[in-house]
Amino acid sequence: MRFFTVSSYEELSRHAANLISAQVLMKPNCVLGLATGSSPVGTYRRLIEAYRAGDLDFSKVISVNLDEYLGLDGKNDQSYRYFMQTNLFDHINIDPANTFVPNGCADDIEAECVAYDQRIEDLGGIDLQLLGIGLDGHIGFNEPADYFEKGTHVVDLHESTIEANARFFAREEDVPKQAITMGMLPIMQAKKVLLIANGAAKKEIMQKAFYGPVTPEIPASILQLHPDVTVIYSEN
Ligand code: GLP
Repeated sequence: MRFFTVSSYEELSRHAANLISAQVLMKPNCVLGLATGSSPVGTYRRLIEAYRAGDLDFSKVISVNLDEYLGLDGKNDQSYRYFMQTNLFDHINIDPANTFVPNGCADDIEAECVAYDQRIEDLGGIDLQLLGIGLDGHIGFNEPADYFEKGTHVVDLHESTIEANARFFAREEDVPKQAITMGMLPIMQAKKVLLIANGAAKKEIMQKAFYGPVTPEIPASILQLHPDVTVIYSEN
Protein backbone atom coordinates (compact mmCIF):
# COMPACT_ATOMS: atom_id res chain seq x y z
CA MET A 1 0.00 0.00 0.00
CA ARG A 2 1.17 3.51 -0.79
CA PHE A 3 -0.28 6.01 1.67
CA PHE A 4 0.23 9.66 0.73
CA THR A 5 -0.64 12.41 3.15
CA VAL A 6 -0.97 15.66 1.26
CA SER A 7 -1.62 19.18 2.48
CA SER A 8 -4.73 20.25 0.60
CA TYR A 9 -7.77 19.05 -1.31
CA GLU A 10 -6.27 20.61 -4.46
CA GLU A 11 -3.11 18.55 -4.06
CA LEU A 12 -5.16 15.42 -3.44
CA SER A 13 -7.21 16.08 -6.56
CA ARG A 14 -4.15 16.75 -8.70
CA HIS A 15 -2.41 13.60 -7.50
CA ALA A 16 -5.49 11.42 -8.03
CA ALA A 17 -6.20 12.88 -11.48
CA ASN A 18 -2.58 12.26 -12.48
CA LEU A 19 -2.88 8.59 -11.54
CA ILE A 20 -6.14 8.20 -13.45
CA SER A 21 -4.65 10.05 -16.44
CA ALA A 22 -1.67 7.68 -16.40
CA GLN A 23 -4.09 4.74 -16.50
CA VAL A 24 -5.99 6.19 -19.48
CA LEU A 25 -2.77 7.03 -21.32
CA MET A 26 -1.27 3.57 -20.74
CA LYS A 27 -4.47 1.73 -21.68
CA PRO A 28 -6.88 3.90 -23.69
CA ASN A 29 -9.60 1.22 -23.55
CA CYS A 30 -9.31 0.71 -19.80
CA VAL A 31 -12.18 -0.02 -17.43
CA LEU A 32 -12.40 2.69 -14.78
CA GLY A 33 -14.37 1.99 -11.62
CA LEU A 34 -15.75 5.37 -10.59
CA ALA A 35 -17.09 6.85 -7.38
CA THR A 36 -19.40 9.65 -6.30
CA GLY A 37 -19.48 11.86 -3.20
CA SER A 38 -17.68 15.14 -2.63
CA SER A 39 -14.17 13.64 -2.55
CA PRO A 40 -13.77 12.94 -6.30
CA VAL A 41 -15.26 16.22 -7.55
CA GLY A 42 -11.87 17.98 -7.75
CA THR A 43 -10.31 14.93 -9.38
CA TYR A 44 -13.01 14.89 -12.06
CA ARG A 45 -12.58 18.63 -12.61
CA ARG A 46 -8.90 18.07 -13.33
CA LEU A 47 -9.63 15.19 -15.70
CA ILE A 48 -12.02 17.47 -17.59
CA GLU A 49 -9.28 20.12 -17.80
CA ALA A 50 -6.81 17.55 -19.14
CA TYR A 51 -9.38 16.46 -21.74
CA ARG A 52 -10.01 20.06 -22.80
CA ALA A 53 -6.28 20.67 -23.07
CA GLY A 54 -6.10 17.76 -25.51
CA ASP A 55 -4.04 15.63 -23.14
CA LEU A 56 -6.61 12.89 -22.52
CA ASP A 57 -8.90 10.89 -24.78
CA PHE A 58 -11.78 9.02 -23.16
CA SER A 59 -13.33 7.74 -26.39
CA LYS A 60 -12.41 4.12 -25.69
CA VAL A 61 -12.71 4.22 -21.89
CA ILE A 62 -15.40 2.16 -20.19
CA SER A 63 -16.67 3.17 -16.76
CA VAL A 64 -18.52 1.22 -14.10
CA ASN A 65 -19.80 3.09 -11.10
CA LEU A 66 -19.91 1.74 -7.60
CA ASP A 67 -23.44 2.45 -6.51
CA GLU A 68 -26.82 4.12 -6.88
CA TYR A 69 -29.68 5.04 -4.59
CA LEU A 70 -32.63 2.71 -4.79
CA GLY A 71 -35.65 4.38 -6.37
CA LEU A 72 -33.85 7.36 -7.95
CA ASP A 73 -33.69 7.44 -11.71
CA GLY A 74 -30.94 9.14 -13.70
CA LYS A 75 -32.99 12.32 -14.20
CA ASN A 76 -33.24 12.88 -10.46
CA ASP A 77 -30.56 15.42 -9.57
CA GLN A 78 -29.69 13.47 -6.41
CA SER A 79 -29.04 10.25 -8.28
CA TYR A 80 -25.48 9.08 -8.79
CA ARG A 81 -26.10 8.76 -12.53
CA TYR A 82 -26.96 12.48 -12.59
CA PHE A 83 -23.87 13.24 -10.49
CA MET A 84 -21.64 11.40 -12.94
CA GLN A 85 -23.18 13.12 -15.95
CA THR A 86 -22.82 16.62 -14.50
CA ASN A 87 -19.44 16.16 -12.80
CA LEU A 88 -17.69 14.20 -15.54
CA PHE A 89 -19.38 12.41 -18.41
CA ASP A 90 -21.08 15.44 -20.00
CA HIS A 91 -17.73 17.23 -20.22
CA ILE A 92 -15.50 14.57 -21.77
CA ASN A 93 -15.65 12.41 -24.90
CA ILE A 94 -16.56 9.14 -23.19
CA ASP A 95 -19.12 7.14 -25.20
CA PRO A 96 -22.39 7.32 -23.19
CA ALA A 97 -23.00 3.67 -24.09
CA ASN A 98 -19.80 2.81 -22.24
CA THR A 99 -20.81 4.38 -18.93
CA PHE A 100 -22.45 2.01 -16.45
CA VAL A 101 -24.15 2.93 -13.19
CA PRO A 102 -26.37 0.42 -11.35
CA ASN A 103 -30.02 1.04 -12.18
CA GLY A 104 -31.72 1.91 -8.90
CA CYS A 105 -35.11 1.82 -10.61
CA ALA A 106 -34.87 -1.61 -12.24
CA ASP A 107 -38.14 -3.56 -12.04
CA ASP A 108 -36.21 -6.61 -10.94
CA ILE A 109 -33.45 -5.39 -8.64
CA GLU A 110 -32.08 -8.89 -8.03
CA ALA A 111 -31.67 -9.41 -11.78
CA GLU A 112 -30.01 -5.97 -12.01
CA CYS A 113 -27.47 -7.02 -9.36
CA VAL A 114 -26.65 -10.26 -11.18
CA ALA A 115 -26.40 -8.45 -14.53
CA TYR A 116 -24.12 -5.76 -13.08
CA ASP A 117 -21.65 -8.37 -11.80
CA GLN A 118 -21.83 -10.20 -15.11
CA ARG A 119 -21.12 -6.98 -16.99
CA ILE A 120 -18.00 -6.31 -14.94
CA GLU A 121 -16.86 -9.88 -15.51
CA ASP A 122 -17.54 -9.63 -19.26
CA LEU A 123 -15.47 -6.45 -19.38
CA GLY A 124 -12.57 -8.41 -17.93
CA GLY A 125 -12.74 -6.68 -14.57
CA ILE A 126 -11.74 -3.21 -13.51
CA ASP A 127 -8.33 -1.73 -14.30
CA LEU A 128 -8.44 1.09 -11.80
CA GLN A 129 -11.05 1.49 -9.07
CA LEU A 130 -11.47 4.95 -7.55
CA LEU A 131 -12.96 5.00 -4.05
CA GLY A 132 -13.97 7.44 -1.36
CA ILE A 133 -14.66 6.33 2.19
CA GLY A 134 -17.62 6.95 4.46
CA LEU A 135 -17.25 8.05 8.08
CA ASP A 136 -18.14 4.51 9.16
CA GLY A 137 -15.56 3.03 6.79
CA HIS A 138 -17.95 2.11 3.98
CA ILE A 139 -16.71 1.89 0.40
CA GLY A 140 -19.26 2.17 -2.36
CA PHE A 141 -22.26 1.55 -0.13
CA ASN A 142 -20.77 -1.53 1.53
CA GLU A 143 -21.76 -0.70 5.08
CA PRO A 144 -20.23 -2.22 8.23
CA ALA A 145 -21.57 -5.76 8.58
CA ASP A 146 -20.79 -9.22 9.94
CA TYR A 147 -19.18 -10.31 6.69
CA PHE A 148 -17.87 -8.87 3.43
CA GLU A 149 -20.51 -9.11 0.71
CA LYS A 150 -18.98 -10.25 -2.59
CA GLY A 151 -21.43 -9.31 -5.31
CA THR A 152 -23.63 -6.37 -6.23
CA HIS A 153 -26.43 -6.17 -3.68
CA VAL A 154 -29.09 -4.00 -2.10
CA VAL A 155 -28.09 -2.46 1.20
CA ASP A 156 -29.92 -0.69 4.01
CA LEU A 157 -28.02 2.53 4.60
CA HIS A 158 -26.80 3.16 8.12
CA GLU A 159 -28.07 6.14 10.03
CA SER A 160 -24.64 7.83 9.96
CA THR A 161 -24.49 7.44 6.15
CA ILE A 162 -27.97 8.93 5.75
CA GLU A 163 -26.97 11.84 8.00
CA ALA A 164 -23.69 12.38 6.14
CA ASN A 165 -25.41 12.37 2.76
CA ALA A 166 -28.30 14.58 3.90
CA ARG A 167 -26.18 17.63 2.97
CA PHE A 168 -26.89 16.84 -0.69
CA PHE A 169 -30.68 16.72 -0.18
CA ALA A 170 -33.22 19.39 0.74
CA ARG A 171 -34.28 17.42 3.84
CA GLU A 172 -32.85 14.39 5.64
CA GLU A 173 -36.17 12.58 5.06
CA ASP A 174 -35.48 12.80 1.34
CA VAL A 175 -32.32 10.63 1.53
CA PRO A 176 -33.18 7.16 0.23
CA LYS A 177 -32.86 4.48 2.89
CA GLN A 178 -31.53 1.85 0.54
CA ALA A 179 -28.99 1.65 -2.24
CA ILE A 180 -27.61 -0.82 -4.74
CA THR A 181 -23.85 -1.25 -4.51
CA MET A 182 -21.05 -3.18 -6.10
CA GLY A 183 -19.73 -5.76 -3.66
CA MET A 184 -16.17 -6.38 -2.55
CA LEU A 185 -15.19 -8.96 -5.17
CA PRO A 186 -14.82 -6.66 -8.21
CA ILE A 187 -13.16 -4.03 -6.00
CA MET A 188 -10.64 -6.55 -4.69
CA GLN A 189 -10.13 -7.93 -8.21
CA ALA A 190 -9.48 -4.47 -9.66
CA LYS A 191 -5.90 -4.30 -10.88
CA LYS A 192 -5.36 -1.03 -9.04
CA VAL A 193 -7.29 0.72 -6.29
CA LEU A 194 -7.08 4.44 -5.56
CA LEU A 195 -8.81 5.67 -2.41
CA ILE A 196 -9.08 9.39 -1.69
CA ALA A 197 -10.30 11.08 1.48
CA ASN A 198 -10.09 14.53 2.93
CA GLY A 199 -11.04 16.38 6.07
CA ALA A 200 -10.14 16.02 9.74
CA ALA A 201 -13.41 14.15 10.35
CA LYS A 202 -12.05 11.21 8.33
CA LYS A 203 -8.71 10.99 10.17
CA GLU A 204 -9.85 8.41 12.71
CA ILE A 205 -11.55 6.10 10.21
CA MET A 206 -8.52 6.31 7.89
CA GLN A 207 -6.31 5.18 10.75
CA LYS A 208 -8.63 2.29 11.60
CA ALA A 209 -9.17 1.25 7.98
CA PHE A 210 -5.52 1.16 6.94
CA TYR A 211 -3.64 0.45 10.15
CA GLY A 212 -6.17 -1.51 12.22
CA PRO A 213 -7.46 -5.07 11.93
CA VAL A 214 -9.07 -6.25 8.69
CA THR A 215 -12.72 -6.60 9.60
CA PRO A 216 -16.11 -6.27 7.88
CA GLU A 217 -17.00 -3.85 10.68
CA ILE A 218 -14.68 -1.43 8.85
CA PRO A 219 -15.35 -2.38 5.21
CA ALA A 220 -12.44 -0.36 3.76
CA SER A 221 -10.00 -2.38 5.89
CA ILE A 222 -10.23 -5.21 3.34
CA LEU A 223 -8.12 -3.02 1.05
CA GLN A 224 -5.11 -3.82 3.23
CA LEU A 225 -5.20 -7.22 1.48
CA HIS A 226 -5.17 -5.74 -2.04
CA PRO A 227 -1.80 -5.93 -3.82
CA ASP A 228 -1.91 -2.49 -5.47
CA VAL A 229 -3.58 0.21 -3.41
CA THR A 230 -2.81 3.92 -3.38
CA VAL A 231 -4.38 6.02 -0.64
CA ILE A 232 -4.30 9.81 -0.72
CA TYR A 233 -5.44 11.69 2.35
CA SER A 234 -5.59 15.38 3.11
CA GLU A 235 -6.61 16.48 6.56
CA ASN A 236 -7.52 19.95 5.23
C1 GLP B 1 -21.30 7.95 -0.28
C2 GLP B 1 -20.85 7.11 -1.47
C3 GLP B 1 -19.45 6.60 -1.30
C4 GLP B 1 -18.55 7.75 -0.89
C5 GLP B 1 -19.00 8.27 0.45
C6 GLP B 1 -18.11 9.37 0.98
O1 GLP B 1 -21.85 7.20 0.74
N1 GLP B 1 -21.71 6.00 -1.70
O2 GLP B 1 -19.01 6.00 -2.51
O3 GLP B 1 -17.22 7.30 -0.81
O4 GLP B 1 -20.31 8.77 0.29
O5 GLP B 1 -18.48 10.57 0.39
P1 GLP B 1 -17.69 11.91 0.52
O6 GLP B 1 -16.57 11.83 -0.44
O7 GLP B 1 -18.69 12.96 0.14
O8 GLP B 1 -17.26 12.03 1.93
